[in-house]
Amino acid sequence: MLLEIENLAVEVAGKKVLKDINLSIAEGETHVLLGPNGAGKSTLFLTILGFPNYKIVNGTIKFKGQDITGLSTAERVKLGIGVSFQTPPAIRGVSVGDLLKIISNQDVSDELNPRMQELARQLKFSDEFLNRDVNLGFSGGEVKRSEILQLLAQMPDFTMFDEPDSGVDIENVELLASEIGTLLDKDKPQRSRKRSGLLITHLGYILNFVSADKAHVLIDGVISCSGNPSEILEDIRKNGFNGCVECAQCL
Ligand SMILES: Nc1ncnc2c1ncn2[C@@H]1O[C@H](COP(=O)(O)OP(=O)(O)OP(=O)(O)O)[C@@H](O)[C@H]1O
Ligand SMILES: [Mg+2]
Repeated sequence: MLLEIENLAVEVAGKKVLKDINLSIAEGETHVLLGPNGAGKSTLFLTILGFPNYKIVNGTIKFKGQDITGLSTAERVKLGIGVSFQTPPAIRGVSVGDLLKIISNQDVSDELNPRMQELARQLKFSDEFLNRDVNLGFSGGEVKRSEILQLLAQMPDFTMFDEPDSGVDIENVELLASEIGTLLDKDKPQRSRKRSGLLITHLGYILNFVSADKAHVLIDGVISCSGNPSEILEDIRKNGFNGCVECAQCL
């Protein structure tokens, strides 16, 4: 297993948001996290990333066999964890190009390396755009594409995508999905994939372009159902999340 979460309970601002999470993701697998607004999906991501406000009151998170529960966010990122945030902050005074150089271990006074220049071009970012401050005045779609570009500079072993398709137009969803595929080794045959991911999506449209191995439904801080992504999505479309609460057979 690349990621193993056992009996995880998390408090945020004194409120118990995650109650008893058990989740394992093997090397090369892509999992999907579904669930209603406020269920705790982003909280789970930020807890895996080690944000200090997210207090683990029970359980462990193991990554590559190592208990990372006590590690800082920086240490977790260095181990190979990455995230595209649902609503990332603007960073005044830091340009997208400079951030990409920092992530790629380049000197900021050097030219952006050719691989990143090519990826920026693929994601429809001009040189002028790369000179802009990170997320400052970006459109919704630009924020999402910029998050994916930063991840392509990092190439984590395990990537969490928090609603990468939300607010993105149809053409750009396909473009993003293709780059997400690169981050998840989808260009390789299943057995030789190494990179893994966990993807939050509400409508599931992106799953038409990114294959997923398993889905989990998080409701009120508990994973109430796990199974085949398209079957679960279909069921949610028909019966809403209540169907997942009642369905225990796929656990
Ligand atoms: N820093 C915080 N302070 C107070 N409450 C918080 C904080 N972070 C999360 N919460 C609360 O925890 C609950 C879960 O939030 P979370 O953002 O994880 O939901 P979500 O499943 O990602 O929802 P959505 O689909 O709307 O993005 C919500 O009730 C939220 O208000
Ligand atoms: Mg969220």
